[in-house]
Amino acid sequence: MITIDLQDRVALVTGASGGLGQAMAKTLAQAGAKVAVHYGKDQDGAHRVVQEIQQAGGVAAAFSADIADPGAVVKLVGGVEKQWGGLDILVNNAGMDGPRAEVGKDDPKLWEKVIAVDLLGPYYCARSAIPLMEKHRRGVIVNVTSVHEFIPWEGFSAYTSAKAGLSMFTKTLAQETANRGIRVVAIAPGAIQTPINQNVWSDPQALQDLDRKISMGRLGKPEEVAQVVAFLASDLASYITGTTLAVDGGMLIYPDFRHGG
Ligand code: BGC
Repeated sequence: MITIDLQDRVALVTGASGGLGQAMAKTLAQAGAKVAVHYGKDQDGAHRVVQEIQQAGGVAAAFSADIADPGAVVKLVGGVEKQWGGLDILVNNAGMDGPRAEVGKDDPKLWEKVIAVDLLGPYYCARSAIPLMEKHRRGVIVNVTSVHEFIPWEGFSAYTSAKAGLSMFTKTLAQETANRGIRVVAIAPGAIQTPINQNVWSDPQALQDLDRKISMGRLGKPEEVAQVVAFLASDLASYITGTTLAVDGGMLIYPDFRHGG
């Protein structure tokens, strides 16, 4: 039997108080990892996730930090090291879509905020994590991009730019660290049912429109993404680095082309 075994590994999942991150934290803990549940503001959510992990027999602790603040990220990663003596798995999950706004009618401050959280945050976390991973020549960084690293999205240029940037960061960092025992991969979730897109899935017409953009015709569940993260973080994926894996129910394979062409 093949199992995903993350025993003796320490994992940090950013943005783990809800959405995709909470599922990732729980799944990594189920596989045996000690999990640092990072949150920005939702302390209650983070504590709930930690409690659920502990009740299931796992090991977890909550850590807060503003991911867009380089000093705060240094403290965050230092705190994880202090607690468990290292860091083997970093999941750069924290992110935001940002408000819908066309360029020219938008507020640059909001554009900058999305870039800070979605692109600078993962960079800050990676640069703090790498020295710890290097020490043991063992580490995996999973960057959570989106199908919007590939698909343009009207009104969300900050988000698409950040995710495409994070994709290239993934490849470049993978190249930089491949001979130091570190793998860097990205996953590109499609439309997964989480609070980030609640405005869409709670509106029947908007949901129908979104479902039509997915070959499988349905939204994904956070667990369906979390399982992939656990696999990529494990030694089962030991020869995978520098690439993006789509977890999107076939959003990127142009379901419209089932008809016509
Ligand atoms: C966004 C969601 C959106 C999905 C599909 C994700 O990256 O965060 O809000 O529903 O892409 O467009």
